[in-house]
Amino acid sequence: MEQMKAAGFPEGFLWGSASAAYQIEGGWQEGGKGVTNWDTFVRIPGKTFKATTGDVAVDHYHRYKEDIALMAEMGLKTYRFSISWARIYPEGKGEVNEEGVAFYQNIIDECLKYRIEPMVTIYHWDLPQALVDAYQGWESPQIIDDFVNYAKTLFTRFGDKVKYWITLNEQNIFTSLGWLTAQHPPGKFDDQKMFYQVNHHAFMAHAKTVLAYREMGGKGEIGASFAYTPSYALDCKPINAMAKANYDDLKNYWWMDVYAYGRYPIAALTYLKKKGFAPDMAEGDEEILRKAAKEITFMGVNYYQSCVCEYNPIDGVTPYGTMNTSGVKGSAQEVGIQGIYKNPANPYLLTTDWDWSIDPSGLWFCCREITSRYGLPIIISENGLGAFDKKTEKNEIHDEYRICYLKEHIKALGEAIEEGCQVLAYCTWSFTDLLSWLNGYQKRYGFVYVDREEEEGGTLNRYKKDSFYWYQNVIRTNGVEL
Ligand code: BG6
Repeated sequence: MEQMKAAGFPEGFLWGSASAAYQIEGGWQEGGKGVTNWDTFVRIPGKTFKATTGDVAVDHYHRYKEDIALMAEMGLKTYRFSISWARIYPEGKGEVNEEGVAFYQNIIDECLKYRIEPMVTIYHWDLPQALVDAYQGWESPQIIDDFVNYAKTLFTRFGDKVKYWITLNEQNIFTSLGWLTAQHPPGKFDDQKMFYQVNHHAFMAHAKTVLAYREMGGKGEIGASFAYTPSYALDCKPINAMAKANYDDLKNYWWMDVYAYGRYPIAALTYLKKKGFAPDMAEGDEEILRKAAKEITFMGVNYYQSCVCEYNPIDGVTPYGTMNTSGVKGSAQEVGIQGIYKNPANPYLLTTDWDWSIDPSGLWFCCREITSRYGLPIIISENGLGAFDKKTEKNEIHDEYRICYLKEHIKALGEAIEEGCQVLAYCTWSFTDLLSWLNGYQKRYGFVYVDREEEEGGTLNRYKKDSFYWYQNVIRTNGVEL
């Protein structure tokens, strides 16, 4: 492998990797855990690839010591993982489940034993089903207090050991797939008014959590993780430049501006008011959002791909094209908002088997944009390549394509740092292979191969891929040898 010199990464840079509870833990009915929206959703026929579930997932619930020992062997500086709300509060609120608390306490202690900084995501999409049954979960403002109560419990129990907190993972994705495309729970289709309302509740839950953390004396780092897909205008035709501006307002700034400034972008808000989709806000909400924006200390970025923006005629494509969940290249359809923008493929970029464009420069753009627009430090909370990996008879996995992907992205990140962007951490997605929500187990992301396929019954044994050794050396040399 060719050795390349990257731009300098700062001392103490947090080289990491990430996961989410539902995608790795399994043990769905163990340890007093309550049922979640995902436990329910995956049982609806046709919702996930080959009916895959996270019932067993990669059995991290029983194998967390083995997994964290592998992280230590690799030299990981931080491990980002999420806590399942239903393990802490099986009913979403009420009595704390001490067995659930103990499970995460063990994970945190195991990380600290190896000097791995735990980075906790409070919410990575698995919601106690009891709250859906009680008031439709995120659709009701009642969730705000329950979320803050849950988060405060985490701060009380783990706040002495955890210094990095991510309130919400990809609010833009779980709400889009939940209320627009019907691909995530609660499986609602094209409910635009509710989509923006749900988002407003999520913003309030995030903001009140941030404020509660500070009121409780929390001095650590806190922010949200956003699925950032930066955009390029198709060309210099003014109508396409405006399509990009509209896309950015509606698809990126709608979230990041609220986290960082505590207000919605004006042009998008005006447009949504005209459409009748703008969220209803309670008195005092705006002030809370603004206050919380002053307390976040980073913008979390999950970066996978960039997109192209072109004007979309009034009878053009809709947001509801087929998504590629099978890994059959070319099966994704073009999407957009009629009369506003559409996202054609970028002819200058290669794509993954799931039709995601591969664009290291996009990561650089993200960092530059956040630095210029918000002046905030950045945590890259996810970046990685989903691919079909093959284990040889000698139990080796030669994933040079993943090494290539990560190498180019880390180089781009190094450039951003050189230019003055303050990047605190880089977490790859993911450490072990895991369940890809809609794409099953065949879309692998890890440094560690897990022996299982779509159906249950694999050994679940762990095998280090070539990328494991490569990233180990990246960490050892603080990004000098890529
Ligand atoms: C992010 C999520 O959207 O991307 C992860 O935070 C997810 O949970 C990852 O797994 C990759 O997406 P996918 O659809 O390929 O699993």
